[in-house]
Amino acid sequence: MALKITVIGTGYLGATHAAAMAELGFEVLGLDIDPAKIEKLGRAEVPMYEPGLEELLRKHVAGFEGSTGRLRFTTSMEEVAEFGDVHFICVNTPQKHGEYACDMSYVDGAVAALAPLLRRPALVVGKSTVPVGSAARLAEQLRRLAPAGEEVELAWNPEFLREGFAVKDTLHPDRIVVGVAGERAEKVLREVYATPIGEGSPFVVTDYPTAELVKTAANSFLATKISFINAMAEVCEAADGDVAKLAEAIGHDERIGKKFLRAGIGFGGGCLPKDIRAFMARAGELGADQALTFLREVDSINMRRRGHMVELARESVGGGFLGRRVAVLGATFKPDSDDVRDSPALNVAGQIHLQGGQVTVYDPKGMANAREVFPTLAYAATALDACRGAHVVLHLTEWAEFRALDPAALGAVVAERRILDGRNALDAAAWRGAGWSFRAMGRPRA
Ligand code: UDX
Repeated sequence: MALKITVIGTGYLGATHAAAMAELGFEVLGLDIDPAKIEKLGRAEVPMYEPGLEELLRKHVAGFEGSTGRLRFTTSMEEVAEFGDVHFICVNTPQKHGEYACDMSYVDGAVAALAPLLRRPALVVGKSTVPVGSAARLAEQLRRLAPAGEEVELAWNPEFLREGFAVKDTLHPDRIVVGVAGERAEKVLREVYATPIGEGSPFVVTDYPTAELVKTAANSFLATKISFINAMAEVCEAADGDVAKLAEAIGHDERIGKKFLRAGIGFGGGCLPKDIRAFMARAGELGADQALTFLREVDSINMRRRGHMVELARESVGGGFLGRRVAVLGATFKPDSDDVRDSPALNVAGQIHLQGGQVTVYDPKGMANAREVFPTLAYAATALDACRGAHVVLHLTEWAEFRALDPAALGAVVAERRILDGRNALDAAAWRGAGWSFRAMGRPRA
């Protein structure tokens, strides 16, 4: 009999995972504690912007004409426990307020709610990013609390999806990593992934701590790569070098690779910043803090980028923001997402606003979330409107829409033709050709 799957937590990760599992042919039940989210998902509406996800939901959510009906949503943990053979835990693990450590309350809450209801054999699979050691602790808790006792097993199966590519990354992962403490869990997960999802994807089986560490190590490596190139950008600026050329040249070495070497205002989002901080905090608890002191530097290089952009903007408008109009293009932490969590773009906009600048923001998809986080900024309906009367334009998130802007058309509405490219993504020659003063981070001025 085919395995029945539940997905607990329906954010970016869970909603995508649930839809992907239905796409692979499984009967799936998704759960969230937020009834509004569940209602939306039940209508195949995606609570966030994620390309391709709505189409996938429409294909499978029960109740749509022509849908497979394999995907349903609920807020009832009883229903989940009764329905599923495999329960994926996909709840978020944010940074604790005012601390580096990870807030495990959603994961702990999900396991505490599910465990006492598990009366038949089941595999609980953690996908959330957690501090190393969590899986062993949760496995023990499950055994203790579940009426089915030893028949309930736990596996850790970290998820590596990127926002904006969530569907693609879930259906075609680079690798599948599973941390297990027994053969049965491995067998069940091989069955789940013995579908097109697993085709061509290396399947790495390991123990709990290694599986947990793979995720934090991967994100730490990516964060380090970005901060490395941003450190090079600082040196390039001091020495009048060109960090984009430098990145291109070092990237030709396959050991280094071309990806994740775009200098700019740095990384943000709901994962990289909080994951490296939680990793440092956990290493400290384990007495291995020295091993990760470099991550403190990675974090501080990254945060410095935001301040540096504010400085460049201030310098460009004559040394002070009072009475100056600043157009900000981009609010999300990266393009093709509506996520503004720890967004460098919004942070820069906010800093300039607090220093007296008249900031107007435009973002293709992130306006509603940005307004919620920063209601005191001004928002415009188009990029052109944001730029009206601006003394400087800041390009802070590299949406394709901004690369397609016509420098001449924008030039006609601004007060001063000055643009700072915080993402090294615009065509400098085209802007300069249209009479703009164009400056990018880590690149020569002229
Ligand atoms: C990241 C990981 O890539 C993913 O594997 C993990 O599962 C979750 O965390 P995500 O947060 O969606 O994914 O964003 P990602 O595409 O990695 O970008 C992170 C940040 O780095 C963005 O703010 C982006 O603008 C920035 N970045 C990325 C750079 O500044 N330069 C680069 O070269 C690449």
